[in-house]
Amino acid sequence: MRTRYGGSLRKEHIEDEVTLCGWVDRRRDHGGVIFLDLRDRDGIVQVVFDPDTGENFQRADTVRSEYVISIKGRVRARSQSTINPDMSTGEIEILGKELEILNSSKTPPFQMDEYTSVGEEVRLKHRYMDLRRGEMQNRLRLRSKITSIVRNFLESEEFLDIETPLLTRATPEGARDYLVPSRTYPGSFFALPQSPQLFKQLLMISGFDKYYQIAKCFRDEDLRADRQPEFTQIDIETAFLDQLAIMDIAEKLVKNLFKELLKIELIDFPKITWFEALDKYGSDKPDLRIPLKLISLDDLMKSVEFKVFREPADDSESRVAGLRVPGGAKFSRKEIDEFTDYVGSYGAKGLAWIKVNDLSEGTQGLQSPIVKFIPDSILSEMLRRLGAENGDIIFFGAGISNVVNESLGALRVKVAEALDLIEEGWKPLWIVDFPMFEGSSGNLSALHHPFTAPDCSLEQLIKSPEQACSQAYDMVLNGTELGGGSIRIHDKKTQETVLQLLGIEKQEANEKFGFLLSALEYGAPPHGGLAFGLDRLVMLMSNADSIRDVIAFPKTQSAQCVMTDAPGMVSRNQVSELGIRIKN
Ligand code: AMO
Ligand code: AMP
Repeated sequence: MRTRYGGSLRKEHIEDEVTLCGWVDRRRDHGGVIFLDLRDRDGIVQVVFDPDTGENFQRADTVRSEYVISIKGRVRARSQSTINPDMSTGEIEILGKELEILNSSKTPPFQMDEYTSVGEEVRLKHRYMDLRRGEMQNRLRLRSKITSIVRNFLESEEFLDIETPLLTRATPEGARDYLVPSRTYPGSFFALPQSPQLFKQLLMISGFDKYYQIAKCFRDEDLRADRQPEFTQIDIETAFLDQLAIMDIAEKLVKNLFKELLKIELIDFPKITWFEALDKYGSDKPDLRIPLKLISLDDLMKSVEFKVFREPADDSESRVAGLRVPGGAKFSRKEIDEFTDYVGSYGAKGLAWIKVNDLSEGTQGLQSPIVKFIPDSILSEMLRRLGAENGDIIFFGAGISNVVNESLGALRVKVAEALDLIEEGWKPLWIVDFPMFEGSSGNLSALHHPFTAPDCSLEQLIKSPEQACSQAYDMVLNGTELGGGSIRIHDKKTQETVLQLLGIEKQEANEKFGFLLSALEYGAPPHGGLAFGLDRLVMLMSNADSIRDVIAFPKTQSAQCVMTDAPGMVSRNQVSELGIRIKN
């Protein structure tokens, strides 16, 4: 039907006769001459119909936005004064000769002009229209290029693409499962996979050695801008490679994507331990573009009278930390109150602060509700340690370490946004040496998943599980966890022990993971891998605000599809066939 895409026409095509197909982006009537902006997947091009084209001109006059048309015409240069530098086709236009209307369109539910912002609900309800916008077309195109490069890269490294089932048993990744009732076994359920974790481990036991899959995963969890109930992983597993070798492949993959698609050479990813990340940034996915750090002050605060600081300084589960914010002395009382409310939402009981107005005036030069509670000698040592300068504000968190880390970690990002302190560019890193477990003895949960290998002996693990670290690693980019993985347990005894430490008794372990425990007895090789969140990767690379913007048909924040109205009711018959009764 068409000879080429109109959006790709340029100066070098002047004088070409072309047939184009697409949608009417805009129609303007300029005193007897009709201008149609024709949109296809490569962009927009201007088509001009003069009255001397007879009934073609008449038809051009009747078309409206989003009509589907086909035109024949000749590419010509625009006159100097009508060149549009904002359009990639802005130096040319098409002199239209024939126009055929292939289909009409109702008035669109919203203006397609890409600068118009409409409510997301409306965009999602008419997603097929929203996806016509250039911005969305570009994002999905980038997504397709990313998966293509990923496949080529992994295949050149001898990985095999192997599919794993969607109807399966639950794999614990820490979220609630999506369940699918079985008709043939009433009362029994499949679970949609939270990840292909156990199947990829079994593939290693089968000898496939290097596996990958671009895999759909399902997690029924609270949604945020970087989470969807149904999302995609670039899932990888290898046998006989150690942690560094696996991390090296993953790092190369990401560097390769940035180089090919964004022409950016990423630096070698620094590695920092989980403990260091929390200590310095209050987060296990720190945004290293923010030049602010938490500084521990526990040793200094042990002896002060101020109970808010002394008690946590003296307690091993708690901490006192300061966050120096250059230029923050200009924050108003109201802004500080808003920050206090903000850290309150992370459980912080308050937010002490000191404004550094003039260091040369000693305590007189400080403005703060707490300096009166802290002896001068400690105050000056603290300011020295924090590297305080005139114009700073210093915020303090004191209390249970988790709460201080989460609240000051979040505040670090918030103030950096407020003061525009976030540097341009890309700051990748690896987080390593995670603890095996979180929580306390008798109530432990896996920090990664229960199949992650410890980096200590089994005896040490049993003796002090809370102290044990795992062979897990996360890749973080600009404050987003892009991917994570680990070396896995490959012997039955260790696996049984870890399940037991997690409070999963033998019978339950056999019921849920018997197939894995049994496979571990038949020559399981040492193995490990990782998974990237593809949606998050595309979101970062395309500069989108939410992963919903890089998924063709995403769910809303409340896990619905407003276009198809899913989830939806089903007939009484269907339900009863499944052996299920719906309450009320
Ligand atoms: P994990 O649970 O860390 O590890 O998931 C891997 C990556 O998947 C992405 N991700 C998500 N993206 C969008 N929406 C979600 N709800 C969501 N949940 C996770 C993140 C995350 O880093 N089986 C292990 C991997 C392994 O050990 O090999 C796993 O699933 O980017
Ligand atoms: P208070 O003695 O409770 O009036 O608190 C004095 C100052 O310490 C106020 O600025 C509080 O916001 C702050 N503050 C109270 N609790 C904490 C806490 N857990 N961490 C940091 N600052 C706190």
